[in-house]
Amino acid sequence: SKAGISETVLSEAEAFVRQRLLNEGTGHDWWHIYRVVRLADKLAEREGAETGIVRLAALFHDLADDKVVASKEQGMAEIAAWLEDHGVGERDWERILEIIATLSFRGGGGAPMTTLEGQVVQDADRLDAIGAVGIARTFSYNGSKGNLIYDPGLPVRETMTEAQYRQERGTAVNHFYEKLLKLKDRMNTAYGRELAEKRHRVMEQYLEQFFREWEGEDLQEL
Ligand code: ADP
Ligand code: NI
Repeated sequence: SKAGISETVLSEAEAFVRQRLLNEGTGHDWWHIYRVVRLADKLAEREGAETGIVRLAALFHDLADDKVVASKEQGMAEIAAWLEDHGVGERDWERILEIIATLSFRGGGGAPMTTLEGQVVQDADRLDAIGAVGIARTFSYNGSKGNLIYDPGLPVRETMTEAQYRQERGTAVNHFYEKLLKLKDRMNTAYGRELAEKRHRVMEQYLEQFFREWEGEDLQEL
């Protein structure tokens, strides 16, 4: 159920976030939110999560990311103010902020997501990082940092330190091993895991072909 959250608030929230992120160039653009909202809605329906909370958390989830706003604290304060100003009850906005705060910890190393609504939004956000769209986002982000798509001379790093993250060193291909290929085993919900497994196979097939092309091996197959 949408409980206490009205359709009016949901569409005002969508307009606000769309405006805020339309020209965002960090991989957190409006269309990422658009996809996450649609996935989260469907997962919420299947898992029986409260859809109003899920929708608002999905819409606002990247507005506390320090790639998008000056600081996480400032982003959280801005979201809280918006929700209060639009008459979202305290019990509801507290739940929404809790989800966003938990999501904002890097790489899933933070606190576990305890509510079903949070688990649904986290699954949706992770699903948008994998599969065909995830591949596109990775190369796009990587290009914005001026990094190589792949470097056979570099050892594959399966873990990166916080310092390495801050410097954004690495290649797009390394990012698959360090993060994207691990996401399917971190899904919270059954439906999320099923969809993640499909998208995971897309990435595996992609990488297999990528390495064949790298060495020109696909030519021998003709
Ligand atoms: P979100 O919080 O929406 O999951 P992130 O801030 O973690 O997104 O990253 C945004 C996009 O950029 C994601 O698709 C992610 O996989 C990609 N990305 C993040 N870090 C790197 C990196 N070091 N190299 C390549 N792509 C990256
Ligand atoms: Ni996101």
